[in-house]
Amino acid sequence: MIKPHFHLFFCGLIFIASPLLADAPLDDELTKAMSLKPDIENGKEVFKLCMACHQANGWGLEDGSFPQLSGQHRSVIIKQIADIRAGNRDNPQMYPIAKESVMGGPQAISDVAAYIDTLPMDPTPGTGRGINEERAEKLFYRKCAECHGADGSGDAERFFPRIHGQHYEYLLRQIKWIRNGKRRNANPVMVKRVKKMKMEDLELLADYVSRMKPPADLLAEPGWKNPDFQ
Ligand code: HEC
Ligand code: HEC
Repeated sequence: MIKPHFHLFFCGLIFIASPLLADAPLDDELTKAMSLKPDIENGKEVFKLCMACHQANGWGLEDGSFPQLSGQHRSVIIKQIADIRAGNRDNPQMYPIAKESVMGGPQAISDVAAYIDTLPMDPTPGTGRGINEERAEKLFYRKCAECHGADGSGDAERFFPRIHGQHYEYLLRQIKWIRNGKRRNANPVMVKRVKKMKMEDLELLADYVSRMKPPADLLAEPGWKNPDFQ
């Protein structure tokens, strides 16, 4: 009679501990860039290399071809650049610019991430069609909130991305790529979870997340243009 109880307790423990156990070990470049003191002025110089695609505001494009970088946690920006450089993410467009010989070493990564941290977010990102918000909210809460937060703000210390306010098409593409293994740096718990979900639910979630409002103090005023590049 005691056994089923014990079993339930044990499964509960594994469930709670699994996201922690799944955190990936940090690679050398990431550890180095995280530990360096950033120079924001140099970061602004490095950012000139990024503007052709991510735009002067760091907002990317509404069609999701280029993601918004503004508002993303510094730690996540650093991890993604290190991963792109290490070949863990297929990004043929950005790869030639992200190379150490062009962009610079870990210090340049640290600097540009700190500069991006100064930019406010796009108040009107690309959104989906606004379908079945009630179901989406429940799904998000059950399947995604433990890592990305109930409001989509992520967790800087654990390298969990902020996802609210990102362009719909980009969100959907990343969820699909994480699901099919194309993004090799993804969190294994998330991979397993989205694999079990139907494509229409993933569309529902991307739609919902693109519409979640980031905190007002992170958002730009309508019509804002980055004064550093006027
Ligand atoms: C030639 C175009 C191009 C340039 C220049 C470029 N990027 Fe990107 N970047 C992209 C594309 C495209 C993606 C998304 C790829 C994908 O869909 O996975 C991306 C993704 C990223 C991501 C991951 C975002 C996320 O939410 O996961 C970061 C961080 C990033 N870029 C930073 C930079 C920085 C910093 C620079 C300048 C040093 C830069 N990029 C220059 C095209 C570019
Ligand atoms: C166990 C933790 C965890 C869970 C649960 C989880 N994620 Fe993630 N997610 C992550 C991590 C970590 C990353 C970044 C992986 C990396 O470093 O590339 C990520 C990346 C993403 C990205 C790409 C963000 C970007 O800027 O590139 C999207 C979109 C996303 N998750 C959506 C979701 C949705 C929707 C759910 C629910 C179905 C979900 N995640 C569940 C941990 C999680």
